[in-house]
Amino acid sequence: MASAVFRLPGVAFITGAGGTGESCILVDELNAVSLQHCNAGIGAAVAKAFARSGCSRFAITDIKSLASTKNTLLDINPKAQVLSQEGDIADESFVNSFMADVGSRFTRLDYAVNCAGVLGESLYCHETPLSAYDRIMDINVKGTWLTSKAALGLMINQEPLEHEGQRGAIVSIASQLGIVARPTAGADNDYETKRCPWLTVIKHPIVPRKRQ
Ligand SMILES: NC(=O)c1ccc[n+]([C@@H]2O[C@H](COP(=O)([O-])OP(=O)(O)OC[C@H]3O[C@@H](n4cnc5c(N)ncnc54)[C@H](O)[C@@H]3O)[C@@H](O)[C@H]2O)c1
Repeated sequence: MASAVFRLPGVAFITGAGGTGESCILVDELNAVSLQHCNAGIGAAVAKAFARSGCSRFAITDIKSLASTKNTLLDINPKAQVLSQEGDIADESFVNSFMADVGSRFTRLDYAVNCAGVLGESLYCHETPLSAYDRIMDINVKGTWLTSKAALGLMINQEPLEHEGQRGAIVSIASQLGIVARPTAGADNDYETKRCPWLTVIKHPIVPRKRQ
């Protein structure tokens, strides 16, 4: 990996940070960040990339254990401050309570990265139970909306850190499937729904499929 030269003096909030993060983030000579050959652990990889790029204040969350990511962040920067809390991003009370803790601990939030998400089974629309659809929508759409809403609640009331008019940044990891249809992504519309749920809900079921 090329050496990173970013300055990230603010506070980073990252969901879905509980993976291994063994994959996948490259910073090229022009400092463009790209995800390559990722098959899991993007949230943890994002957190580590932030740490390697100079960020020292973190709020990380996931429904599964965050111990490994927290330890790695402290390995990268022993002086880093890491607020970590396991919880469900589809649960409004958890999201609001964690974001209140972020505000109390750091008094601001500058970079929010929504990486938490789930995949659905690869099924055609007519094969998929409503419960599977509800789970995807709950986590990928409502959960991402809840964390973005809570992050905005902090960002909108703070003074810009470095650049006039910029009070913070929110990035939501989605998929090329948000713009490219696939027949068996139609039913549960997995992660791509973060970006354009109304489009993907109607799009995938109408893609022609091979006769069986
Ligand atoms: N890996 C890829 O190639 C790829 C491609 C396109 C998009 N994406 C999207 O990027 C994001 C990250 O993908 P990944 O490959 O790192 O997957 P991953 O499964 O490794 O990471 C997702 C994380 O979200 C967490 N999570 C699941 N449900 C949660 C909930 N209710 N509350 C809190 N955390 C929850 C999981 O525990 C997991 O750690 C996902 O939204 C995924 O859909 C991934």
